[in-house]
Amino acid sequence: MRTVVLASGRGSNLRALAEAVDAGRCAARLVGLVTDRPGAGALALAEERGMPARIVSPKDHASRPAWDAALADGVGELDPELVVLAGFMRIVGSPMLGRFGGRIINVHPSLLPAFPGKDGPGQAIATGVRISGCTVHLVDEGVDSGTILAQGAVPVLPDDDAGSLHARIQTVEHRLLPEVVHWIATGRLVLADGARFTDVPAAHHLSALVYPPLTH
Ligand code: GRF
Repeated sequence: MRTVVLASGRGSNLRALAEAVDAGRCAARLVGLVTDRPGAGALALAEERGMPARIVSPKDHASRPAWDAALADGVGELDPELVVLAGFMRIVGSPMLGRFGGRIINVHPSLLPAFPGKDGPGQAIATGVRISGCTVHLVDEGVDSGTILAQGAVPVLPDDDAGSLHARIQTVEHRLLPEVVHWIATGRLVLADGARFTDVPAAHHLSALVYPPLTH
């Protein structure tokens, strides 16, 4: 399954995907990286792996619609069957949704529908929730509002700040995202017509977590 990753940041989720592919745990082919940021750490990783990479920076385009169109063209040239947003810090516009809608997934650092948008971990700390986690979901025109595909939970510990919570959430992201991509690549999760599982993966039952732990 030709998979294109969009990332703006350091790219730890791209690395997790690549390592899962190398280890035979994820049946995707990573055919390219597209970023909006020339300084994205994900670019170094793509280069390290010999993965084609494109930079589509808003600074190089006169308007938001022009950037939206260039992004869709840049992704389209890589001919993806699946598009994975792994820390892509911009909303994808209608050109992307028109061409790849229904086969774009995103990983978000909160248990949606709680804390969409920026700084999911910071929102969780500010609200005082005791459990947070990550969500892999389909991308639609809203902000982190598409169909939820899978979630993983982590405790929020008493001394956490947004950074320490985010780091804990990422340990789950790095397992869950490659797994979801594998489910899609192998037909276990069918995205067409609103997303459905052909059989429920056992891993679904493993993500339940209660904190503080129950004593009886
Ligand atoms: C992840 O926590 C993801 O949930 C969010 O952006 C972060 C990207 O991290 N959308 P990385 O660049 O993959 O390390």
